[in-house]
Amino acid sequence: MTQIGIIVGSLRQAAYSQKVANVLANLLPVQLTPVFIDIGQLPLYNADLDEDDTVPAWQTFRQQLDDVDGLIIVTPEYNRGMTGALKNAFDVGSKRRNHWKHQIALVVSSSPEATGGFGANQQVRQVLVTLNVFPVQRPEVYLGHVNHLFNDQNLMTNLDTLSFLQTAVNAFVDLQAKFDPQPADELNALAIKYEPGRFYINGENGSTLAEIIFHDQQNKRIMVTNTQVSEQLRGQGIAKRLMLRVIRFAQIYHLTIIPDCSYAQKFLEKHPEYQDLFTTN
Ligand SMILES: Cc1cc2nc3c(=O)[nH]c(=O)nc-3n(C[C@H](O)[C@H](O)[C@H](O)COP(=O)(O)O)c2cc1C
Repeated sequence: MTQIGIIVGSLRQAAYSQKVANVLANLLPVQLTPVFIDIGQLPLYNADLDEDDTVPAWQTFRQQLDDVDGLIIVTPEYNRGMTGALKNAFDVGSKRRNHWKHQIALVVSSSPEATGGFGANQQVRQVLVTLNVFPVQRPEVYLGHVNHLFNDQNLMTNLDTLSFLQTAVNAFVDLQAKFDPQPADELNALAIKYEPGRFYINGENGSTLAEIIFHDQQNKRIMVTNTQVSEQLRGQGIAKRLMLRVIRFAQIYHLTIIPDCSYAQKFLEKHPEYQDLFTTN
C-alpha cells in the first residue's frame, strides 16, 4: 500500500491547517493511504543530543519519514515564515542522514488573511530544495480567508475551493505516479470526486455514472443511504471504491457508519475487518 505522510505545521488543537489537511486526506484516491505524522512531540533539535540515538521521538519521526512514499505539508504562516515547529521537524528529519530525500511533496499554506500564507509556503519550498524533495510546482496553493471555509462540523463546504484542492491533489498523484509507477488501473484513479455528503463519478456530459450518498446523523454518525453504479461501469469494483472512500472519510473525521442501503450492508458482511467503524443504529 502506498502511504502518504501528512504533516501539519500548527500544533494547536483547533488549527485551520489541520482542517485543511483533513480535506486533502479525504481527496486522495483510495490506493494512497494518508498517514498523519505528528511533529508536536519533537524536542528542539540539538546536535549534542544526536550522537547516540538518545532522543526516541526523533528516531520515531525519522522512521515515519522513511516509511512513506510522498508528503503533504500544510503550514500556517507565523511572521511571514513557516512555524518553528515545522522548521524543527525539517531539521530533525535532515539528520543524521537526510530522511526527506527523494520524497515528493504537495505544499499547502493557509491563513485567515487574504495572503494565504504565501511567505510560509515559499519558505517551505526553499527548504525542500536543499533536502532534495520534489514539490508539486503548480498549482501553488495559498488558501486565504481560511477561517471562512469550514462549517461547524469542520467540513469544507465551498465547492470551488474543494474543486481547486482536488486539482492540487491530482497534480500530486500524477507526480507521485511518475516516481512510483504502479500497474495501469482500469479506472482512472482520479475519476472519483467528493462533495459534502457524497462521492461520485460523472460522465463527460456531466451526468452521474456512479455515486454513494451519506447523511449526517447525531452523535458523530453518518448513514449510507444509497450506492449506485450505472450499467456501463459495472464489474470494475467501483461500488467498493466508493465505499472505501466513505470508510476513510469516517476514519478522518472520527465517525461511525450506519449501513442503510443493501450494498453497504453486503460490504460489511464481506469485510468484517471494518466492523469497528459500523453501527446498526
Ligand atoms: C506567532 C504568530 C504569528 C503570526 N503571523 C502571521 C503572518 O505572518 N501571516 C499571517 O497570515 N498570519 C499570521 N498569524 C495568524 C495565523 O495565520 C492564524 O493564527 C492561524 O489561524 C494560524 O494557523 P492555524 O489555525 O493552522 O493554527 C500569526 C499567528 C501567530 C500565533
